[in-house]
Amino acid sequence: EKGNYRHFMQKEIYEQPTVVAQTLNSYVRQADESVALPQIDFDLSAIKRITIVACGTSFYAGMVAKYWFETFARVPVDIDVASEFRYREPVLEEGGLAIFISQSGETADTLAALRHCKENGQTIATVVNVPTSSMAREADLILPTHAGPEIGVASTKAFTCQLAVLAALAAHLAVAKGKMNRAEEQEVVRHLIEAPAALNAALDHDDDIAAMAPLIAPARDVLYLGRGPDYPLALEGALKLKEISYIHAEGYASGEMKHGPIALIDEEVPVIVLAPSGPLFEKTVSNMEEVRARGGQVVLISDAKGLAEAGDGCIATIEMPDVHPLIAPLVYAVPVQLLAYHVAVVKGTDVDQPRNLAKSVTVE
Ligand code: F6R
Repeated sequence: EKGNYRHFMQKEIYEQPTVVAQTLNSYVRQADESVALPQIDFDLSAIKRITIVACGTSFYAGMVAKYWFETFARVPVDIDVASEFRYREPVLEEGGLAIFISQSGETADTLAALRHCKENGQTIATVVNVPTSSMAREADLILPTHAGPEIGVASTKAFTCQLAVLAALAAHLAVAKGKMNRAEEQEVVRHLIEAPAALNAALDHDDDIAAMAPLIAPARDVLYLGRGPDYPLALEGALKLKEISYIHAEGYASGEMKHGPIALIDEEVPVIVLAPSGPLFEKTVSNMEEVRARGGQVVLISDAKGLAEAGDGCIATIEMPDVHPLIAPLVYAVPVQLLAYHVAVVKGTDVDQPRNLAKSVTVE
């Protein structure tokens, strides 16, 4: 079943261009470059507030989506990890849409949060990879990811497919609310359908990432930095590394470094910086300089332009294709997945079945 791949995780990372294209097929119409969601039988334009609840990697997809819902549709978004959500007595007003993101559709905390929102009058949407799951059955709107079965315990292809669905939903909501005109919708769709090719271009750098994995494998701690919609990718990179290589890793918003974590920096701590060139690039580079000035060992993940500007002095660089900011979070998922994967292979851990973890967490 693994074909030519050594692990399911590796196979699933490589499936991403195909499965993201498959997912997009159900959410965009190429012919007229429009967003095309499943039949929605409630009034989307009446949505006043969005609550997003999920766990782990699915939660990070939700963090990226918050940027999209707020920038495209100008609808305020609250986001929580499911285990915290119910117990903080969230204020759930009428006219709210609650979105639950889950690969398995069975995660106990997320399911309990869904039921809580339902009891409190929210319209329920679920982004799930298992269409027969409990979360799918209890939703008003099911938005399936078409990633196919994910076997590796560490989530990879489900994440990029979740992002594809959420981007389409955000654009659709923006159109429904009159915040996005036809030309802007077409532009979003054009960028989304560039994602599979861009994911392939990212995968082309697998050998470079494998070659640098031995630099990271001996580390005890690793930091990941990102800004804006790439901040959740820093969190995701750190989670992947922790899960399968057992190296302590933390993701931080680049600008937050100087408020504490910079105290950890020395020659022993690799710092992985995710920074596509664009409006936030210069700011991230200055955070990177603060790290380097303290002896930090920086790995810069950026496009050719970003690497030309700031790649000198890094212990390694990983080149990504030059992509529109909308699809950058999908594309930058690839190098952080591959880095965790190759570091785990160097360390000889059980990549597909990491210790203490289960694929589906059905207890609270
Ligand atoms: C990370 C990972 C977990 C899951 C989390 C939620 O690689 O696999 O953090 O993302 O347990 O699972 P689902 O998406 O099934 O609700």
